[in-house]
Amino acid sequence: MDYDFYSKSLVNWYKEHRRDLPWRRSSDPYIIWISEIILQQTRVAQGLDYFNRFVARFPDVRALAAASEDEVLRYWQGLGYYSRARNLLEAARTICRDFGGIFPRTYNEVRSLKGIGDYTAAAIVSFAYDLPYPVLDGNVYRVLARLFALSTPIDSAQGKKEFAELAALLLDKEHPGLHNQAIMELGALQCVPRQPDCSLCPLMDRCMAYAAGEVSVYPVKQQKLKTRPRYFHYLHIVCGNDTYIQRREGKDIWQGLYQLPLIETDAPTDFAKLQQTDAFRRLLPDCGRMEISVVLRDIKHVLSHQTLYASFYYIKVEREGKTLNEYLRIPLSCLENYAFPRLILRYFQATANC
Ligand code: ADE
Repeated sequence: MDYDFYSKSLVNWYKEHRRDLPWRRSSDPYIIWISEIILQQTRVAQGLDYFNRFVARFPDVRALAAASEDEVLRYWQGLGYYSRARNLLEAARTICRDFGGIFPRTYNEVRSLKGIGDYTAAAIVSFAYDLPYPVLDGNVYRVLARLFALSTPIDSAQGKKEFAELAALLLDKEHPGLHNQAIMELGALQCVPRQPDCSLCPLMDRCMAYAAGEVSVYPVKQQKLKTRPRYFHYLHIVCGNDTYIQRREGKDIWQGLYQLPLIETDAPTDFAKLQQTDAFRRLLPDCGRMEISVVLRDIKHVLSHQTLYASFYYIKVEREGKTLNEYLRIPLSCLENYAFPRLILRYFQATANC
């Protein structure tokens, strides 16, 4: 098959339609790496701000490696999936320790870094060094599945193998960086998930899904992830001008981020029932008089594998009871010095003017 045709059409289309994005003006693998990890987390429009702030503060591997985890998390705050930020820091430190602070130049070395999978390694080495590794992200899966009406589920082992083979066949080995950018951009701008305008597509005449009138059928997926519900009750405890927070430790979501004192229950629980739990009683003994208000109830917060239902209670206490000293006591005005998950930021924003 004439695979050259695909790449040539893609690249011609790309040259005309590409977005001018800051990481595309750079061939610095560090810059490309940061942009790719941010873009795994969010759309370009929102990612731009995060990217600009991140690289202004941490302009190179050494600057990142020297940072504290708390600070890196603050720059990541609101993006979600905080392990990605921790992995960035760990990989930057590995580069300083094992590669003399110079970003590694081979696919296998890049792939060996914490948090860098097949996709990110291929993106970095093809964009930065023009090495011939095809990228396969969600956009590329969709483009390939439609072009070749490939119905093997993209989330199956067999699918991964078939799509990887196809991507490698299509890759323009002379200009792999340009080819990879082009196919990703086609997926992002033209071959979009819902209701693409195929009449504008440079590959319309070659697209097997289009010919069959089945564009919306592709890509095929095996099954949806099952999500687990969790019930969080946050206590915004205020004593004088201070409040209480804690750093999340352990192997759970949001490791290393800060939170308000939290009680988790196995089932939906209203405040009357919450007050009767051991956890609640344990948290607030001998605090004197308390004024309690329910501020937000059952805020739904969807993560990849779990759905959180969170309630927030504002509790003004007369004095600090003995259990509260297990938490970090900070002035209310200093909350912004700590990285919080977006869910809690939403609460702070909702109550900012109260
Ligand atoms: N999404 C992932 N990587 C990207 C890139 N380099 N440019 C635009 N969108 C992207």
